[in-house]
Amino acid sequence: ERPEVEGAGDPSEAAKKVKIGIYFATWWALNVVFNIYNKKVLNAYPYPWLTSTLSLACGSLMMLISWATRIAEPPKTDIEFWKTLFPVAVAHTIGHVAATVSMSKVAVSFTHIIKSGEPAFSVLVSRFLLGETFPVPVYLSLVPIIGGCALAAVTELNFNMIGFMGAMISNLAFVFRNIFSKKGMKGKAVSGMNYYACLSILSLVILTPFAIAVEGPQMWAAGWQTALSQIGPQFIWWVAAQSIFYHLYNQVSYMSLDEISPLTFSIGNTMKRISVIVSSIIIFHTPVQPVNALGAAIAILGTFLYSQAKQ
Ligand code: 3PG
Repeated sequence: ERPEVEGAGDPSEAAKKVKIGIYFATWWALNVVFNIYNKKVLNAYPYPWLTSTLSLACGSLMMLISWATRIAEPPKTDIEFWKTLFPVAVAHTIGHVAATVSMSKVAVSFTHIIKSGEPAFSVLVSRFLLGETFPVPVYLSLVPIIGGCALAAVTELNFNMIGFMGAMISNLAFVFRNIFSKKGMKGKAVSGMNYYACLSILSLVILTPFAIAVEGPQMWAAGWQTALSQIGPQFIWWVAAQSIFYHLYNQVSYMSLDEISPLTFSIGNTMKRISVIVSSIIIFHTPVQPVNALGAAIAILGTFLYSQAKQ
């Protein structure tokens, strides 16, 4: 593993630390905006398969235009690259649609509390599927992560099984996505930004037929009329905002994944969830019981213990 951002004594390392700090702050801010507009859209228009597809379509279009106009340098890819990208795109598609289905059924905060358990999935996948072993403290740190998520789930006022399972499936899928992407990005001439762009395009191709099969244009059109008449023309802006911000936050997260290890990435991701949980509870007036909040706090604390144990 690379030494990452340690070694503050060296000026180039210090500069790198500042750069990663800026990436992280931007990533979290963009993600909060995405989560708010995504939920506003889903409340009025409960078609998560379509909104997931639109997010990918919007990102793909933004990048194709950027390449065509040379705002961004197009990547040089070969068939081998797309073949290696395929499993990453399958995992990205599953993780994305599962999280969006989850958020269409439960509070945004609940989805993200369950998603803060992602490090536990990472350890379990590495242990049982990749045969990697970890020091005992790493396994011990899973106790508060899993226990905290479980406590938050059983005390959740608006618990819904599809919402819960969606977040769990998303956790599992994203562990694979992160492991495969880091491998795919290593030593390749494709930057983090372009790598994510290619991932969006391939995921869009994979997701579109499934979205049509599960929901389909008839449902979308009828729901669209209802949402427009209830919300007014700004509904279109909400859809645009959720789609654009989805692409931007993921792009920035991949720009940082380019420079850090998957472990640092997942810690940054958990910290991001704190800002999403707090802001969505305030904005959507989500009811929370003290014991429910305690569960979330224990799970997040567990992630910090995990990161310490893993280093
Ligand atoms: C999605 O729609 O892909 C999820 O909201 C993303 O979850 P993340 O917070 O793990 O990126």
